[in-house]
Amino acid sequence: MNADRLIALDRAHLWHPYTQQATAPAPVPIASGQGAWLQGMDGRRYLDLIASWWVAIHGHAHPVIARAIAEQATQLEQVIFTGFTHEPAVRLAEELLKYLPEGLTRFFFSDDGSTAVEVAMKMACHYWRNAGQERGRFLVFEKGYHGDTVGAMSASRSSGFFEGYGRMLFAVDTLPFPATWEGDETVEAKENQSLAALDRYLEAHGTECAAMLVEPLIQGAGGMRICRPGFLAAVAARLQAAGVLLIVDEVMTGFGRCGTLFACEKAGIAPDLICLSKGLTGGFLPMALTVCREKIYAAFLGATFDRALAHGHSFTANALGCAAALASLGLFESERTLERIAAIETVHRERLRGLGGAVESPRVLGVVAAFELALPDRGYGSSFTPRLIRFFLERGMIIRPLGAVIYLIPPYCISQKELHQGWDAIHEAVDFFSNH
Ligand SMILES: Cc1ncc(COP(=O)(O)O)c(C=O)c1O
Repeated sequence: MNADRLIALDRAHLWHPYTQQATAPAPVPIASGQGAWLQGMDGRRYLDLIASWWVAIHGHAHPVIARAIAEQATQLEQVIFTGFTHEPAVRLAEELLKYLPEGLTRFFFSDDGSTAVEVAMKMACHYWRNAGQERGRFLVFEKGYHGDTVGAMSASRSSGFFEGYGRMLFAVDTLPFPATWEGDETVEAKENQSLAALDRYLEAHGTECAAMLVEPLIQGAGGMRICRPGFLAAVAARLQAAGVLLIVDEVMTGFGRCGTLFACEKAGIAPDLICLSKGLTGGFLPMALTVCREKIYAAFLGATFDRALAHGHSFTANALGCAAALASLGLFESERTLERIAAIETVHRERLRGLGGAVESPRVLGVVAAFELALPDRGYGSSFTPRLIRFFLERGMIIRPLGAVIYLIPPYCISQKELHQGWDAIHEAVDFFSNH
């Protein structure tokens, strides 16, 4: 099929995510991917500086992962996971156990980041019920984002994405998030205010709250908002003292994004539940895990089904996804991925510093670099966002700002030269948009 016909058919029949179809430009038809690059059907190449919505952690079409999937496909592609099990699923749990925070030992598979969160929320709610307590409240940070299913959207309501679905959503309790950046002198005051609000909340509602759900260290879709590890540790300690479960949503941060395999490690915390997806399969296949402590699992044991977790998907623990995840995890050792991430972080810091006072609230953590452009119109629907996206695309760069927040989350295979190319385009954009 040629590119024109493909676009015409796409426009006639497809509906793209997070897209105002009436005003969006035609999507770019992509023919192939290799390493940090994607190639369009017209032969143009694009440097994927956001790892395709943060999933392609090792880059595109990595041969080791591709081979693992192909080999698994000739053995077993899928089997119902109720009443049956298979080696790739068991081996994946056994491998991940080596790296996950202490005490997270029980693995439940689902399909994507949203379902990993949905499962965690259901586990927390049902855990308390099985323990003889009805706890229906959830606590979250403002501007958090946890996905697009009903529970996850409810928890993400303050992100502002979900106004259209208000009638479907349930209420959650919200705390201020002490977002910080390089040279921020107000960070301690913000942290103290947030911790004081948490103390007041736990005093008033601690025994009604099933769990607090947080994105550790970085709020992704909310605008790459970063908090300090010590703050997160203080939150975890307070929740533990109050007997409220902590769910950590590592869907974006997991698998190296913050410089350690999991952000929890950087913050020195061990939550009660963790949600994983995106980088889990190296970005090859949709799959997710919710991993919990044994005490949570134990509360679901009993003689009757009403104590059991009523959740499952057709593709639970898909064998191809598990094979991809095992191969992806193996690459962290064979390719010394954490060293690559540290080198990316060094370039980010250097190039962000080079922007000086031209930008606001610069921040870097692991492979995530972000800052805000001083635009007159800054929200998620800012009229500048499509212009910025086009500006970068014209230069062969895939960078998709969140409102006025420009960020990079490159795949770990990116070379120093490629990364500098990305930053050159950003410097050019800052000059251009600061003057227009
Ligand atoms: C922190 C976090 N949680 C959950 C999700 C939802 O994941 P998915 O899009 O795979 O459903 C996302 C997606 O960006 C995310 O960043």
